[in-house]
Amino acid sequence: MPRFHQLIPPHGTTLTNLIVPENEKLALKLRCAHLPSLTLSRAAANDFELLASGAYSPLRGYLNRRDYECVIDRKHLADGTLWPSPIVLSAPGTGVGQELALRDSGNHLLGSIRVDEVYSEGLISGPLQVFQLPRHFDFPQLRRMPAQVRSLLATMEHPDVVAQEDLQDGAQLDGYSRLIQPAAGWSRLDDFDHFDKLRRLSVTVAERYSREQALFSICALNLESDPILRALVQRNYGANYVLTRDETEFELLNGYRAETGVTPLLGNAPVEPAATKGFCLWITGLPSAGKTTISEILAVLLMERGRRVTLLDGDVVRSNLSKGLGFSRSDRETNILRIGFVATEIVRHDGVAICAAVSPYRASRQAVRGMAGTATFIEIFVDTPQAICEQRDVKGLYAKARAGNLPGFTGIDDPYEAPLAPEVHLHAASGTPESNALRVIEFLESRGLL
Ligand code: ADX
Repeated sequence: MPRFHQLIPPHGTTLTNLIVPENEKLALKLRCAHLPSLTLSRAAANDFELLASGAYSPLRGYLNRRDYECVIDRKHLADGTLWPSPIVLSAPGTGVGQELALRDSGNHLLGSIRVDEVYSEGLISGPLQVFQLPRHFDFPQLRRMPAQVRSLLATMEHPDVVAQEDLQDGAQLDGYSRLIQPAAGWSRLDDFDHFDKLRRLSVTVAERYSREQALFSICALNLESDPILRALVQRNYGANYVLTRDETEFELLNGYRAETGVTPLLGNAPVEPAATKGFCLWITGLPSAGKTTISEILAVLLMERGRRVTLLDGDVVRSNLSKGLGFSRSDRETNILRIGFVATEIVRHDGVAICAAVSPYRASRQAVRGMAGTATFIEIFVDTPQAICEQRDVKGLYAKARAGNLPGFTGIDDPYEAPLAPEVHLHAASGTPESNALRVIEFLESRGLL
């Protein structure tokens, strides 16, 4: 006989489902076509999805004023049910009695709300009707309604279900079925961690566990949501235990376990290797200071350490990306911002961008620092006395400028604004290019970037 475990009942005993029956959908859609629209942000669409699917049971819609005040005051709804966070919808300018069509950012109809109450500067509440859940193109096979998760869990090996958001062990979990269900609500299209994490998890879960032992699913909770709320949501999906590796969270959940119905278990930190982060090395200095030589050595040393490197050298960039730009102040600024734009993309993809350009103006370097993010922008000042640069004069340009044949040459009749607080200050003439490159490597190691 197939087994069918009796799981913990949902919070508030019944599972909400706000999606209108198929045979009423057309009427809802036609009505909504004539209503004013409210566009939900991605974060708001996550809450909408959790409400609509029953993950937020017993809520049947956004909080009204009374519930809202009780939740803020004492983490309970007006009827005394535990509810830790305000789930609200903001629609400033809306009046009582109005009906709004709710849409996602792509203008797809999600549902409608009839406004019974407007309070606290534009929060609205009233009966919610759901046309469809927000659409997701990522991991559709992992997205399930609480009722679906429950019916899968009911046929797994053990009746007790422990929910966990990532793979962690330590606690003895042999006697439990696992619901591996990370909070996967996300708000940015470029959240690589989201894709990375879920892809790695699905591979590992499939390797470690049979279908009888673990169910891998994701839910639309926002990553920073309240731990008690997360426990209640996991309960609505069918879990009566939650695994956490945070001791403070464990204590908190333990204090509420009678009310949540969910018992916390303390797990260990996951043993995932730290991801390698990208960074930008911004090499600035006078013409002929030695920027290119040091950059090329750095590129080799970093590749040897397993990093993917792109070298953006001023001279090279000016023959493609910045072809046609000259050396006026505004052309130089454009050149630097273009290099900075490309470097920022490389860093976002966890690559290393080495940018070697005179970049004489402090403000443009500062602007690129702002684009890349200061934690990953490493300014390296190749500080070679101008007399030495002139002596080297690799391309004969100083001589040309001194002779008056190259107007606007950096150091001669165009300023070089030296960095005030570079991350690495290389007195380049007093060492070899190799020793200077190694100083940069040491700095990166000290910052934990290598
Ligand atoms: S930046 O000022 O826009 O950062 P970039 O590093 O791309 O300059 O290019 C500097 C290179 O262009 C120098 O190495 C030199 O070979 C050449 N160059 C030609 N004219 C000038 C000039 N007026 N000032 C500085 N470099 C120049």
